[in-house]
Amino acid sequence: MQSLEKEAQVANEYLSRVAKEAERKFDEHLPVEKDRPHRLHEAMRYSMFAGGKRLRPALVKAAFEMFGGKGESVWYAMSALEMLHTFSLIHDDLPCVDNDDYRRGKLTSHKAFGEATAVLAGDALCILAFELMGKTGNAKAIETLAHQLGTFGMIGGEMTDIECEGKTVDLEIVDYIHYHKTAALIEASLVVGSQLAQASEKDIEIIRNYGRSIGLAFQIVDDILDIVSTTEELGKDAGSDIEKGKATYPSILGLEKSRERARELYDESIQILEGLSCDTSILRAIAAFIITRVN
Ligand code: IPE
Ligand code: IPE
Ligand code: MG
Ligand code: MG
Ligand code: MG
Repeated sequence: MQSLEKEAQVANEYLSRVAKEAERKFDEHLPVEKDRPHRLHEAMRYSMFAGGKRLRPALVKAAFEMFGGKGESVWYAMSALEMLHTFSLIHDDLPCVDNDDYRRGKLTSHKAFGEATAVLAGDALCILAFELMGKTGNAKAIETLAHQLGTFGMIGGEMTDIECEGKTVDLEIVDYIHYHKTAALIEASLVVGSQLAQASEKDIEIIRNYGRSIGLAFQIVDDILDIVSTTEELGKDAGSDIEKGKATYPSILGLEKSRERARELYDESIQILEGLSCDTSILRAIAAFIITRVN
């Protein structure tokens, strides 16, 4: 087996390649600033083009191609997933949620445009995402996304994350928060890509489980980076979790045990992929990237 770093390098190259292609599509799919309401369109584009790893569109594409998907529908889903993720970030940064000033190396949406515009830019990105998903004509994929984003998914996780601020909670609750606020959308990216490729129910179940493992690992690493990294390295406010008394993995297990848990989830995710008969090399590389990433 290649070293984790080498595997992660493969994923890095894949992510940069997909980011370039996907960003051209975002540009096509987003409303232009010269159309009314100008400032809202400007705010939507500001956050979408501020940077970011483009992990979720890359997962959509990787799953779609792995299961032999063909056609243009994947581009709509890739834009939709990045829009939904960006919507979640804009709202997560608001003063009434995490109250953060920096995102993707720039001022957060509400700092740059004001709170009302930030709320509406998030709403508009979420709604546009579903309009684009409609163009795929795949009702199952649309249902997957709505479910993974709603009260039983990302929004459920965000709600519990806020409710637990400043409280002593156990690992079961932190797992609930992390599986919902973060893993749900990562899982959704993979499942939607697979559904658009008409993968079998059995294969979708496997990809779903892989998504849950790397999704939880992703948020554990996010919690760790919040402590060990700087605002410059992260492009977002470091130390934000401790300041708000957030329920995180390191707050319960400490840094070393949190790192061990992320590594265990990586091993688990690689094992899960063994259940598939297709070429899983990109997904293995992405799992390595997730636990070795520095921002
Ligand atoms: C940040 O996600 C929010 C979390 C779910 C932890 P990313 O780390 O993928 O953010 P970008 O898209 O690269 O900015
Ligand atoms: C991210 O949780 C979850 C969502 C944005 C839905 P965090 O609050 O930890 O994300 P960052 O650290 O602000 O990116
Ligand atoms: Mg948050
Ligand atoms: Mg936050
Ligand atoms: Mg965080």
